[in-house]
Amino acid sequence: MAETPRRIWLTGASSGLGEALAEALLQQGAHLALSARSEGPLHLLERRFPGQVLLVPGDLTDHDRVKAIGVEIEQAWGALDSVILNAGTCEYVNAKEFDALIFERVIRTNLFASSYCIEAALPLLRKGIRPHLTDVASAVTYLPLPRSEAYGASKAGLRYLFESLRVDLAQEHIDVTVVSPGFVDTPLTQKNDFPMPMMISAEDAARHIVERLDKRPLEIAFPALFMAALWPLSRLPAKLKLIIGKRMVRQDPMEGDA
Ligand SMILES: NC(=O)c1ccc[n+]([C@@H]2O[C@H](COP(=O)([O-])OP(=O)(O)OC[C@H]3O[C@@H](n4cnc5c(N)ncnc54)[C@H](OP(=O)(O)O)[C@@H]3O)[C@@H](O)[C@H]2O)c1
Repeated sequence: MAETPRRIWLTGASSGLGEALAEALLQQGAHLALSARSEGPLHLLERRFPGQVLLVPGDLTDHDRVKAIGVEIEQAWGALDSVILNAGTCEYVNAKEFDALIFERVIRTNLFASSYCIEAALPLLRKGIRPHLTDVASAVTYLPLPRSEAYGASKAGLRYLFESLRVDLAQEHIDVTVVSPGFVDTPLTQKNDFPMPMMISAEDAARHIVERLDKRPLEIAFPALFMAALWPLSRLPAKLKLIIGKRMVRQDPMEGDA
């Protein structure tokens, strides 16, 4: 008997890693509810994979819209088996002209929006089959990097949110996976003007994640060589982390920035 397709809500599916994840999961036959603000790329996926895509676009920082997305998914499917919270943004901080509004924007998108999505998703996951909640965090949380105050804070917050939620959801048998990518070639990183060692394509990153999701590991951190270098650095005392970080600081941190 053919297996029932998994019903997955994937956020940030309009570009980069999310778009590549959507492609890989749809190729496997999964049914996807797709969210992002740009509807064009989502419509394209709907046309290419007829009957597999539920369009639930919108700005995920809008709490009311996210609640409405939850209702739309419930009306269409009744439940969710998996949720992959991938939508995110990055802005760099110039410590010489510290702008707290960058924190508001980045944390609203990366952390608050994720909490809105969790609120909408949990009742649906509780009705799903072998429920699984996945969050795309970042390897940035392993080491304090220059100019990453806002992005790193948002991703460190996300990591804690999901690791804590994992403990609380264990008794309900809802598994929680944290994905920690290194550098992936996407519109988000195409804006960067600094070296990004061991960067991989969005397609390779998506393949790596999708191949491991079924086993529901606590964490999917990659690329392997990048993590092999980063992991020991993350265990160093704060003094040594400061020395490493200082070597990465540029003379004019915002020079060349868009
Ligand atoms: N690229 C990397 O090297 C890297 C490394 C570590 C972690 N990550 C994480 O991977 C995830 C995907 O990033 P990416 O590199 O693929 O960047 P990307 O190409 O810029 O994709 C970001 C996605 O998030 C969506 N999004 C952003 N703000 C949104 C909002 N307010 N409401 C709804 N959707 C929103 C975007 O869609 P719209 O703009 O259409 O709304 C887009 O689909 C992010 O969480 C990022 O932090 C990336």
